[in-house]
Amino acid sequence: MTDKDILFQKAREAAKNAYCPYSHFKVGAAILAASGNIFTGCNVENSSFGLTCCAERNAVGEAIKAGERSFKCIAVYLDHDEELFPPCGACRQVLSEFSPTMQVYFFNNTVSRSSSLEDLLPGHFRLEKKEEKH
Ligand code: THU
Repeated sequence: MTDKDILFQKAREAAKNAYCPYSHFKVGAAILAASGNIFTGCNVENSSFGLTCCAERNAVGEAIKAGERSFKCIAVYLDHDEELFPPCGACRQVLSEFSPTMQVYFFNNTVSRSSSLEDLLPGHFRLEKKEEKH
């Protein structure tokens, strides 16, 4: 299996536990860190809709918690036969914080597409980084 196959499989697995009683869109994300480790997330919805968190951002949170800071690519799966969406604007911005040129795969039960994050979010907002304290 290639890295991409593994990433796709893990994104599918993550979507199984999505909490999405409002949209019924089960989303799973698997992100490959520069270290070679993979982290996953699913969408977690909330009655107060604005508090919903996307699968991608939950995957990034898992990775950051483990000490990762750089990513090669992310695969985002939507458990649907027709609907397909690339990461939302908020997730693009969060991904670009760490790896603005990473590759983004998004796929459903029928098709798969791919784009660089640079193309999805040109001119992303960024501040100069100061050294992190440990
Ligand atoms: N969603 C994601 O998980 N990722 C995205 O990039 C876009 C949207 C989720 C949030 C919500 O649970 C559902 O899909 C519909 O917006």
